[in-house]
Amino acid sequence: MDKKVIITGGAGFIGSHITDNLLQNNYSTVVLDNLSSGDEANLKNSDKLKLYRINIEKDDLEKIFETERPDYVIHLAAQTSVNYSITNSYFDADMNIMATIRLLDVCRKYNVKKFVAASSAAVYGNPKYLPVDENHSTEPMSPYGLSKLTMEKYIQFSNVPYIIFRFSNAYGPRQKSSKESGVVAIFDKAMKENTQINIYGDGAQIRDFIYVQDIANICVKVLESDIKNEIINFSTNKGVTLNELFFEMSKIYNYKQKPNYLPKRKGDIKDSILSNKKALKILGNTEFTDYKKGLKDLRECVNG
Ligand SMILES: NC(=O)c1ccc[n+]([C@@H]2O[C@H](COP(=O)([O-])OP(=O)(O)OC[C@H]3O[C@@H](n4cnc5c(N)ncnc54)[C@H](O)[C@@H]3O)[C@@H](O)[C@H]2O)c1
Repeated sequence: MDKKVIITGGAGFIGSHITDNLLQNNYSTVVLDNLSSGDEANLKNSDKLKLYRINIEKDDLEKIFETERPDYVIHLAAQTSVNYSITNSYFDADMNIMATIRLLDVCRKYNVKKFVAASSAAVYGNPKYLPVDENHSTEPMSPYGLSKLTMEKYIQFSNVPYIIFRFSNAYGPRQKSSKESGVVAIFDKAMKENTQINIYGDGAQIRDFIYVQDIANICVKVLESDIKNEIINFSTNKGVTLNELFFEMSKIYNYKQKPNYLPKRKGDIKDSILSNKKALKILGNTEFTDYKKGLKDLRECVNG
């Protein structure tokens, strides 16, 4: 019988790519998603795919686990906005911490073999050195970073075998440009519509970008591997300035406008690069898409 995976947030940006990969690898795939930011259109038609349109923070998870009996769980559903977490900290904590605890409780009860969770570079706070490795201190600068860090601790306490990935900035098809962190999606939309682009600060700030397909590959690969109970950064380890990103995308999109530089925003981290040394060491052969290739693929992609 096919192995079964429950994926929370499986209709979202990252989740839908993982869902595609699960189906390609013949997993029976059960998506739990309230479609608050995800979209049913992101899901392919397949008789191996089932969607429960539920809120994991409130609705009955036990009934679903009782019916589905998943082998593995991939947990992506979250409150993902740093800004929103500042003004709506209760909601952020409820979603990122309490909903995860609810999920862990049923995972334990139904003997889930592995729990793969999405955490974030936000748990580290302002980098004290670059690239930031997993031993870097964790001093989150927002309720979002804190709720992700707390989520990690509950996962570690749960006795459910786990892998926690701390992702850097993901980009790729199906990312919404309305999201504050999705700079590539914002540039993509503006360049396609030929509207002007704002860059906050001088554009010299460094970020590392990870292609969503690479995330999808690794999340599926670890399910049946022997690796467990690890926290792993997942990133390319390569810094790119926003100006470089803008320049590269301008070439690919044949975009002729100059960016509009605005004062830097309060709270924005200057430079951020996550180390992928541990990922390379323990995950074995891992492909990282070169960002120029990823951007070209994104440009050519019509609707993901
Ligand atoms: N995108 C990035 O760059 C990035 C970086 C680091 C970590 N992450 C983490 O990866 C995960 C996925 O992020 P994303 O960018 O794909 O975001 P997304 O908003 O596209 O996906 C989140 C999904 O969860 C669903 N969801 C939200 N609340 C829910 C609830 N209460 N019940 C059921 N479903 C719910 C949404 O409808 C959506 O489909 C999140 O945990 C996020 O914190 C993302």
